[in-house]
Amino acid sequence: MAEIIDTRTEPDRAIGQACAVLSQGEPVAIPTETVYGLAADATNPDAISRIYEMKGRPRFNPLICHVSDMAMAEAHVTFDPISRRLAEAFWPGPLTLILPQRPESTVHALASAGLDTLGIRMPDGFSRQVIAHFGHPLAAPSANTSGRISPTSAAHVQADLGSKLKLILDAGPAEIGLESTIIKVEDGTLRLLRPGGLDAGEIEKLTGREVVRPENAGATIEAPGMLASHYAPGAAVRLNAEEVRAGEALIRFGGRSLPGEGEATIVLDLSPHGNLREAAANLFDYMKRADASGARTIAFGRVPEEGLGEAIIDRLQRAAAPRSR
Ligand code: TXA
Ligand code: MG
Repeated sequence: MAEIIDTRTEPDRAIGQACAVLSQGEPVAIPTETVYGLAADATNPDAISRIYEMKGRPRFNPLICHVSDMAMAEAHVTFDPISRRLAEAFWPGPLTLILPQRPESTVHALASAGLDTLGIRMPDGFSRQVIAHFGHPLAAPSANTSGRISPTSAAHVQADLGSKLKLILDAGPAEIGLESTIIKVEDGTLRLLRPGGLDAGEIEKLTGREVVRPENAGATIEAPGMLASHYAPGAAVRLNAEEVRAGEALIRFGGRSLPGEGEATIVLDLSPHGNLREAAANLFDYMKRADASGARTIAFGRVPEEGLGEAIIDRLQRAAAPRSR
């Protein structure tokens, strides 16, 4: 099992140990405000290989590079004016920008899977301090086995990857609970490659421009990681349930009861008062709990499509998609 250091009680030791392990070319699980990340030195090809190995992740799926400040970002990518505006408004925060990599950038091609762009993000929370001390960008996908549900707590990471990892930093439950929103600006058009923890409506409000969604979100693999089946629990998933069937777990929203829920293996409410932020923060943990209840199927009640509901529904649709394994 991995060592877990609590960043709230031992922040200095957490940073010291994390930097020591990262310098050895080994990944460390770190808390970001979105989900826990499996972080490694983005300039070290062996360290990046270890990430792909630990996750069982296909190597054509590039990693997000995490930076601690704008100077570090600008050493590796060039900003167009709109992307710069987004970075200034929303960083540190749950937004990843796809930007051209500078020729002099030391981020290794394995991190970008050979693309000429980098996915780059300045995370909020303790992970940013780790990056600042380490001094190089950290490549970090979510700290879960490829295709599984993303971790929002140190315990989730320990249960999934603990036997392969040396160190997990524990900062408590992730505040946002959904991965970052991914935006690529192309010829002045803002393209949404992945809905996530930053409501795309906020981006539209700031820029006065439309955020363009892919025509067929499930089918186009714009961000190569957006394979249809993802975030998959062990149980099957049924969306927009209007009743609970035998052997099902129920994850509902907004305090809305469903007929038959007395027979459910477990009943969880993402947000009894209908708050989408709270629902996002609870989503992955509740999926894991429903899975652990022994249900054959997890039934989800309806979640509203507005605001963060877009990203929540995206994750639910991927969890419900036909599985290739
Ligand atoms: O919130 C998050 O984004 C978390 C935390 C740890 O920061 N990270 C995360 O990483 O969700 P991951 O690897 O699970 O998802 C990264 C996504 C993938 O869909 C990948 O294909 C896309 O970003 N991506 C990375 N670099 C890209 C690039 N150059 N062009 C297009 N898509 C890219
Ligand atoms: Mg992931």
